[in-house]
Amino acid sequence: MRVGFGVGTFQNMAINLKYTTPGLDEKDAVRVVELLQDRLYAANDLHLTLKHVHWNVVGPHFIAVHEMLDPQVEEVRGFADDLAERIATLGGSPVGTPAAIVENRSWDEYSIGRATTQEHLGALDVVYQGVITSYRAAIEELGELDPVTEDMFIGQTDKLELFHWFIRAHLEDKSGELSTSGADSEKAAAEAAG
Ligand SMILES: [Fe+2]
Repeated sequence: MRVGFGVGTFQNMAINLKYTTPGLDEKDAVRVVELLQDRLYAANDLHLTLKHVHWNVVGPHFIAVHEMLDPQVEEVRGFADDLAERIATLGGSPVGTPAAIVENRSWDEYSIGRATTQEHLGALDVVYQGVITSYRAAIEELGELDPVTEDMFIGQTDKLELFHWFIRAHLEDKSGELSTSGADSEKAAAEAAG
């Protein structure tokens, strides 16, 4: 099962760079742009998904979760802007249209509509696991290719891991056990957390 914002394949995208930043090998720049574009799809998908959750949570903890999510939306929208502008800086053309996200993403559409705060938080635990795992895989690759883009990804991952903790703190008991432990899909995690 595909879960959570992974690193995509890029069959539909032909990257053609006429120039890139000085000192960066052009073949390396193409791969860096691919990695940036995949994270741009992920960031755009994630900030929309977080807004969807912001609108669809119900229950006694509504206001806390509803309000917790907006700063995450804003931060992740900012990531998308930085990723897109880095693509342009490297001589590429960032793709920010909705159909392109759906065509090129390697993860499934967020699967939960109106539901309790705990159910959505359980599902978001799985979403953040996918996003963060993909960022870390890209960081691993960028270490060899481009430390400047790597630095951007590290900064974004730092924030995403903080937000993931905000989510998980709602799913944790006094012993540190997560209610979503072992759940491998949004639906299973929502059920375990609910
Ligand atoms: Fe709102």
